[in-house]
Amino acid sequence: MLIDALGRPLRDLRVSVTDRCNFRCTYCMPRDAYGRDHAFLPREEILTFEEIERLVGIFADLGVEKVRLTGGEPLLRHDLPSLVEMIAGIEGIGDIALTTNGSILARHAPALAAAGLDRITVSLDAIDDALFRLAADVDFPVARVLEGIEAANEAGLTPIKINTVVRRGLNEGSILDVARAFRGTGHIVRFIEYMDVGSSNGWQMTDVITAGEILETIGAEWPLEPVEANYPGEVVNRWRYRDGGGEVGVISSVSQPFCGECTRLRLSADGSIYTCLFGVDGTDLRGPLRDGATDAEITELITNVWESRTDRYSEDRTGVSIGLPKVEMSYIGG
Ligand code: GTP
Ligand code: 5AD
Ligand code: SF4
Ligand code: SF4
Repeated sequence: MLIDALGRPLRDLRVSVTDRCNFRCTYCMPRDAYGRDHAFLPREEILTFEEIERLVGIFADLGVEKVRLTGGEPLLRHDLPSLVEMIAGIEGIGDIALTTNGSILARHAPALAAAGLDRITVSLDAIDDALFRLAADVDFPVARVLEGIEAANEAGLTPIKINTVVRRGLNEGSILDVARAFRGTGHIVRFIEYMDVGSSNGWQMTDVITAGEILETIGAEWPLEPVEANYPGEVVNRWRYRDGGGEVGVISSVSQPFCGECTRLRLSADGSIYTCLFGVDGTDLRGPLRDGATDAEITELITNVWESRTDRYSEDRTGVSIGLPKVEMSYIGG
């Protein structure tokens, strides 16, 4: 098992399979930075499924047990179920999850489940159609996302989690609507504090609605009680409706950071690894991979990166990346 300079093991790998997305959520890919002329990664720079499979195999040997496929929007990548099947065949990987915006999920859920995907997380910031379109900045009906969630449920990709980023002045009014829509369904909504990730979203502390405020809003409507974490280092704070309505959570990356237990590594679509969501530079694995490096050489590269890791950006916002162009979340994955 790999342990970093602050004593944290590597357990969880997030793989971005594309930097493209068909939505333009204002906190993630604002249109002024991701317009028509935006240069996305050219195809030849993106890792092939075989390259991803090989790297995940190496990571599994290093102790990684969980893989999350993300993007951009991962379902835009052609034939994603084949990649799921390849990863499901790797010894040691016990959990494969997918983060998606749900727009084309209804079409793909059965094949993903058949390929061995365990569960999905759907990003959804509002239930009201007009507000949803505003938050995702796209001409797309929320009903189709809800159909995708239903299809995933039928395919057994459960427990389904719904990620709702709350941004002041945008969707704080929809906290109760989103909670209500999923109470009693078995799906778990997690409200996420808007983070200063990337450099293009114009983040300001005043835009953040804290987890404490979110819990107060929900608890005033439906009383809550805390639930134990599922595993050490889980980012969500779990709560349960006292009336039996199920589980809900908050992710307090800004107001109560959780860097002390951060066991995550991110692999970008073009094959660089990042040890922090707020990283500036990654370490390229694609170059060595394509130049014929052996598994042992790649293992050594990864080991060096993880063992020297000291990231704790969210706990220490005076970190090295202040003022530098931080990597965008759509590029390294959520
Ligand atoms: P499971 O527990 O495996 O279901 O997933 P998760 O909650 O760890 O993963 P998910 O990608 O759904 O995380 C939800 C949100 O939490 C992300 O979209 C981010 O906003 C935030 N988040 C996840 N990991 C990190 C992290 O390492 N650092 C920070 N600051 N935020 C994170
Ligand atoms: N703050 C918080 N979460 C974000 N995400 C993207 N950008 C941000 C941000 N600035 C998360 C959303 C989405 C996932 C893909 O990334 O939760 O569900
Ligand atoms: Fe796309 Fe997800 Fe980013 Fe929204 S949050 S722009 S759906 S990658
Ligand atoms: Fe991990 Fe960086 Fe997030 Fe802290 S800010 S939890 S170190 S990814």
